[in-house]
Order: sequence, then C-alpha cells, then structure tokens
Amino acid sequence: MRVAKRLEEVGFSDIVQIRNKVMELRAAGKPVHAFHGGEPFFETPETIKYAVLKALAENRTRYAPSSGIDPLRRAIARKLQTQNRMDAGVEDVIVTAGGAHALYAAFQTVLDPGDDMLLFSPYWTPIRDMVTMAQARPVMVPTATARRNGLTTALEHYSTPATRAIYYNTPQNPSGVVFSRREAEEVAAFAIRRDLVVIADEAYEDLVYEGEHVSIASLPGMAERTITGYTLSKTYAMTGWRCGYAVAKEPFMSGLRKMVLYSTNGVSTPTQWAALEAMATPHSAIEARREEYRERRNKLVQGLNELGLECELPPGAFYAFPAVRKIHKDSRRVAEMLLEKAHVATIPGVVFGAQGEGHVRFSYSVSPETIDAGLEALRKVLG
Ligand SMILES: Cc1ncc(COP(=O)(O)O)c(C=O)c1O
Repeated sequence: MRVAKRLEEVGFSDIVQIRNKVMELRAAGKPVHAFHGGEPFFETPETIKYAVLKALAENRTRYAPSSGIDPLRRAIARKLQTQNRMDAGVEDVIVTAGGAHALYAAFQTVLDPGDDMLLFSPYWTPIRDMVTMAQARPVMVPTATARRNGLTTALEHYSTPATRAIYYNTPQNPSGVVFSRREAEEVAAFAIRRDLVVIADEAYEDLVYEGEHVSIASLPGMAERTITGYTLSKTYAMTGWRCGYAVAKEPFMSGLRKMVLYSTNGVSTPTQWAALEAMATPHSAIEARREEYRERRNKLVQGLNELGLECELPPGAFYAFPAVRKIHKDSRRVAEMLLEKAHVATIPGVVFGAQGEGHVRFSYSVSPETIDAGLEALRKVLG
C-alpha cells in the first residue's frame, strides 16, 4: 500500500512535533513557559460566541451556499472596500475554512505541475508544503537580503521562465516584517511586468505597530492578478472556528469556488453566522487589543536583548525572532536546549526555511506573567 506520489514529497509540520513534546513535559508535571504557539492570547469574544448559540437556536444548521452565506460575504466586501481599499464586490469573496484553506485553494487554483513559486523566506512553514502539494517548486527569496538590495533585484535574480506566482505575506510570520508601500509597489510592478499572479497572505493585517498595512491587491492593475487570503483566526481569536476568506477576480474566483466545493463544500453554517458578528467588531476594540500586543512585544523584545539574544522590534504580527547563534549554530539544538533546561518552548527558525536558521521564534501572544517567568527562566540558564 502507498499514498499518492504527490504526497510523498510533502512534509508534516515540525511545529506539531514541538507541540507534542510540550504536552509530554506537561503530562510529566513540568511547567512549560509556552512561547511556541500561534494563537491570540485572549478568548473568542462573548458576542461572537453568543452569535453561534443564536444561530443554533434559530436552526441555521443546514447547507449554506458553498461560497458562503450572503450577509457574511457582503460584510466582508464592505470591509475590503473601506479597510483594505480594494475594489471588491460580493462576487469577489469566498468564505473558506480559515486562512490556510484560502491559501491551499489559491495555490491549487493557480499552480500547474512544474511551475515555480517565489516566496520570501523565512516563511510560514505550511506554505512550502502547500506549493509542493500543487506539484510546483517553491523558490526562496531571502527577505533580509532582498530588502537590503531592493526587492526587484531579488525577484529578478530568483525568477525563471517557469515562475508563475509570488507568495506575498505581510505582516510576516515568523519575522514580524511589514513590507512598506514602496515595497508593495515594487512587487506589484514586477508581477505586472512579468505577468505573474500574486498570492497575498494578510492573516495579521490588524497587527501592525509601526508603519501601515498595504493590501497589494489595492494597487493599480493588481486586483485582477491577486488572490488574497484572510482569516478570522488572529483578529477575533477564532483559531478553532476555522473561518477565513479569499478575494479574487475571474478566472481565479471560479477556480476557488471549485476548490472549496470539492474540498469542504463550505464552512459550517453556524460558524458563518458567528463570523458575521465578528465582522461587526468596532475598530476601537481591535485597536485596544493591538495596544495589548504592543506592550507584550516591547516587554519580551527588551528582555531578549538584555539576555544578549539580539532582536529587532518586529513591526507586525505577534512573533519575535531573535538571533541565537551565540548559543548554538543549529536552531533545532537551541530550541531543544531552551525547552529542556529552561522549560521555555520556542520554534527553531530553520523550520521557516534555511533563511530562518540562527533564530528561534517566540510568540508574545501570551500573558505578561508568562513573559516575565520565561525571561527569568532564560536568565538562569543563559545569564
Ligand atoms: C502567515 C499565516 N498565514 C495564514 C495563517 C492561517 O491561519 P488559519 O488557518 O488559522 O486561519 C497563519 C496561521 O498561523 C499564518 O501564520
């Protein structure tokens, strides 16, 4: 017995293996300072939870259109027009099972076997596997060097006649990098000149502390060549609900519709009613959360620098990505050592691509007490 050949090339998330080790330690009664996660520090707001109960009480439990319920798609289109400054109508929106599903559907929609896909590295780990699953080749563009020498030069350097698309994530996981408007314009100009598709990932759009979030699809000439993936996971603390959406024009929207129809046949109906409630969250509430994240970021990054783990202040998302080569050159060894000796759980940078080596990822989406206790534990081991 064997699985389909295209799956043999696809890895299984290293992050899951770390999560398992943490569970083992906890089961053995050892406290773990958990910085390895990728979830909001707060719980799903009450109003959203109530909305799912109401949907159930009202028997909104039957099949919905596979692309999503109309009021939700309309609310999303309004948000895209006002917040993301995109020229997007209801017909350009499809509801997906989280941001991961939006991206999976996008890669399957755009990529053919043998295509090249440019992706800035370090990158969110599953992207490489999703591209491989589409039988295309992920081609890494080192982000730091590219930003230093100019994105156009870097994209030109790594592109080939087989290049079909660029994965463009801002704010970035794991580095917290936020691409500037000028950088977005450079990537857009390159995509237009080379007739490439951009698959944009804006999972952390509401978590920008310095600078601005620019949706690349809002730039002139980009709406028709961009598929953008969004998620309710991060902004509204809905990771387990599995709800997100993709935005695209034709012919890509028809591709996405087929992908969603024949994979999940849509997001669970009660969840979509809760998502509609989430979309009505006042901006002030989102801004207040952002300030809480900012305080956590400042506390952790200051502590890491004091320990000699050099770390720039990341302008977006909720991760710090300090350099740890002074502990060991192999980031897997560093993460193991931090977990065993300090009970501090992090993710080795190398799982985010070769360009992540020499770093580990800390999430600061944890309580201030966890940050204090984690830093104290690190001080005992490193200090
Ligand atoms: C960069 C990035 N994109 C997309 C996602 C997708 O999240 P979800 O599938 O929970 O919506 C994540 C989650 O960690 C992420 O870090």
